[in-house]
Amino acid sequence: ADSFALPPHPKIAKGKKLAVIILDGWGEQVDDQYNAIHVADTPTMDSLKKGRPDTWRLVKAHGPAVGLPKEDDMGNSEVGHNALGAGRIFEQGAGLVDTALQTGKLFQGEGFKHIQGAFPEGTLHLIGLLSDGGVHSRLDQIQALIKGSAENGAKRIRVHFLTDGRDVLDGSSLYFVDELEKTLKEVQEATGSDCKIASGGGRMEVTMDRYENDWNVVKRGWDAQVLGEAPHKFKSATEALKKLKEADPKVNDQYYPPFVIVDDEGKAVGPIVDGDAVVTFNFRADRMVMLAKALEYEDFKSFDRVRWPKIRYAGMLQYDGELKLPAHYLVSPPEIDRTSGEYLVHNGIRTFACSETVKFGHVTFFWNGNRSGQFSQELEEYVEIPSDTGITFNVQPEMKAILIAERTRDAILSGKFDVVRVNLPNGDMVGHTGDFHATVVGCATADKAVKIILDAIEQVGGIFLVTADHGNAEDMVKRNPKTAQPVLDKNGQLQILTSHTCAPVPIAIGGPGLPQNVRFRKDLPNGGLANVAATTLNLLGFEAPADYEPSLVEADFNEGEFRNL
Ligand code: 3PG
Ligand code: CO
Repeated sequence: ADSFALPPHPKIAKGKKLAVIILDGWGEQVDDQYNAIHVADTPTMDSLKKGRPDTWRLVKAHGPAVGLPKEDDMGNSEVGHNALGAGRIFEQGAGLVDTALQTGKLFQGEGFKHIQGAFPEGTLHLIGLLSDGGVHSRLDQIQALIKGSAENGAKRIRVHFLTDGRDVLDGSSLYFVDELEKTLKEVQEATGSDCKIASGGGRMEVTMDRYENDWNVVKRGWDAQVLGEAPHKFKSATEALKKLKEADPKVNDQYYPPFVIVDDEGKAVGPIVDGDAVVTFNFRADRMVMLAKALEYEDFKSFDRVRWPKIRYAGMLQYDGELKLPAHYLVSPPEIDRTSGEYLVHNGIRTFACSETVKFGHVTFFWNGNRSGQFSQELEEYVEIPSDTGITFNVQPEMKAILIAERTRDAILSGKFDVVRVNLPNGDMVGHTGDFHATVVGCATADKAVKIILDAIEQVGGIFLVTADHGNAEDMVKRNPKTAQPVLDKNGQLQILTSHTCAPVPIAIGGPGLPQNVRFRKDLPNGGLANVAATTLNLLGFEAPADYEPSLVEADFNEGEFRNL
């Protein structure tokens, strides 16, 4: 027997078309002037909230509910979509790396042994995001990695950092560079290893592109990190951040241009050369995969590498389980197996998944447990709408939401699919720019896109489920978590919040196909994103796998009986 075969749900019939809509960065927060969703015109989402009370609720999208270490860890797209797709809570990269560092196992594993082969002659290069955001990486982990590497044989360490300002407040990069410099100095004094910063740049401008949206971003990083070449050269990272900002006040942490650190003779202090070791220290995959390919693949055509050094390379985690990329890694990634997408293909369900490039991997790669590619070519169609490149999304807050919705509408009306799943990016991508008015426009556009999809579901007598992966746009200023009042800076100014939040997210079900006997259960007040997969399987007429987090819905009468009353 096929271990993936799911029994039919006893009370919910199969055969209804289902649309699963993920609003990216759409949380629930007090309705005030700093809540871009509240300020935006969102009639569709408002009507869902005001509809049948047992078909709308909130679910948790942050902290342990999505596999993150702490209650004050904000949610993010990776852990959110992992939970949505896998129906279970897996301890995520952040916590796995914490444990491996605390126990010291990280320095005894295969991955570290691999890079250790380059010591003592070869330099160890550490590349990644420098902040305590906890979304892609964390400062304390980087510090522990530097210390442990020196204690375990690295005689020369060079850090190539990306400034954040997206998961943390803009302007905080100076603080993180200070902390990094302190650690490098301490480790140098304690171990005698030579430890320096070698290059830097803003995360959106340098290295951390994703889903092959714009290879130029990775190339700019490559030139600075590997070749030691950049348009700007400085004696120290602090000087770089200050001078670049003075020269162009529009530059912010997310968008610093690439720079290299040079010695007194003007020579780059840390290009990557044959015989060196490299660790990309982000635990999160999406924005490291492209660099991992450039470092690892012999056959590589995405940009001209000029020089491809023969190095020993390890990722903090393995970033892609299907591609086995990179081959070496310091910490094993969560083993996210038997995702709902895999169950669907084994049960003959035809799936359509769609978003634009910058969120495409969220409803495919993350949804399927950090695995690129489809489970079934025959049963699944994944459609990527190309994102605009080279702009910040406050300039184009509508993004491709309407196109995504129209393609999805067409997919529903074609009759070729049983379930469609989409990500509407606006609340998140525009929210990350910190531009309040643009975010309001973005949220209004996402709401229009939802309407287009709901109208198509109406036409085919189907069911919809609308939810979000984490909060962002509902909160555009830093607040006191207890009082929800804005926290002002030392000059009495509001602090613009570009990051995600710890807010819960709404979930709504409906549509003409939603059986009248189905409603949200009352006994799961702490339900989170991991409860959504079982919910969607139920709405498609299946029992969920026994070890999935419980479904949010219950059905009391048999559907047929109820309808005949
Ligand atoms: C990013 O990578 O853009 C942010 O760090 C997190 O945003 P996301 O989790 O919504 O992708
Ligand atoms: Co985001």
